[in-house]
Amino acid sequence: MAGILYGVGVGPGDPELLTIKAVNTLKAADVVVAPKAKDTGESTALSVVRPYLPSHTDIVKMVFPMVKGKETLAGAWSENSREILGYLQEGKKVAFITLGDPMLYSTYGYVLKNLRDCGHEIVTIPGITSYAAIAAMTGITLAEGDEALTIVPAVTDEKNLERILETADNLVILKAYRNYQQIVERLKESGHMRDAVMVSRCGLPEERICHELESIGEEGIDYLSTIIAKKR
Ligand SMILES: C[S@@+](CC[C@H](N)C(=O)[O-])C[C@H]1O[C@@H](n2cnc3c(N)ncnc32)[C@H](O)[C@@H]1O
Repeated sequence: MAGILYGVGVGPGDPELLTIKAVNTLKAADVVVAPKAKDTGESTALSVVRPYLPSHTDIVKMVFPMVKGKETLAGAWSENSREILGYLQEGKKVAFITLGDPMLYSTYGYVLKNLRDCGHEIVTIPGITSYAAIAAMTGITLAEGDEALTIVPAVTDEKNLERILETADNLVILKAYRNYQQIVERLKESGHMRDAVMVSRCGLPEERICHELESIGEEGIDYLSTIIAKKR
């Protein structure tokens, strides 16, 4: 049997927000690769899929460090990709799990680039994004009529953010734990604060919903935090 790599989107955190295809793929996988930012601690994506994994599944936790050094990152990604390739060469079905959708700001994107031409089949299974779940939960629509929806990571530089805010009708700001105060200030200035919401760990036990963005200090923000903001 030829090995196959599956990139599996596991949704934002609620174990009921996986697709049937994702669950079937996970049940049939020989190896589940769970990316984590640090050596210590559990992978959130893994905790979401655990209820679906048969006891014989081989679970491999891989560290994808969140550091700025390009060489450290490239080194970690190619080392991890080589390990995955090893499983594929053994003929295994490998499921690389990722929170939300695998094609949106995910470590899977880097693995996909590294292994695209490795000669093994690669299948990507989409997942419900964090912001789709947050919109559904809060009842705040993402876009209506002829409005545009802009998705931006909070790590973008200030000039770029200002440029985006000038024209954006509706905004999703991912990785909102970074530059939080600065972003809130800019949203206020650009008239995007009405109906804004910040949600941390949507669908997970520690879920937090905040409509008063100014009441939060930067130090108190979880890594899994997203802002939805609209211009009215
Ligand atoms: C590396 S990006 C991954 C995005 C993911 N692939 C998706 O489709 O949503 C990580 C960011 O996604 C957002 N995120 C992921 N899961 C979340 C959750 N359960 N609640 C709130 N935000 C979440 C946060 O903005 C977090 O910083």
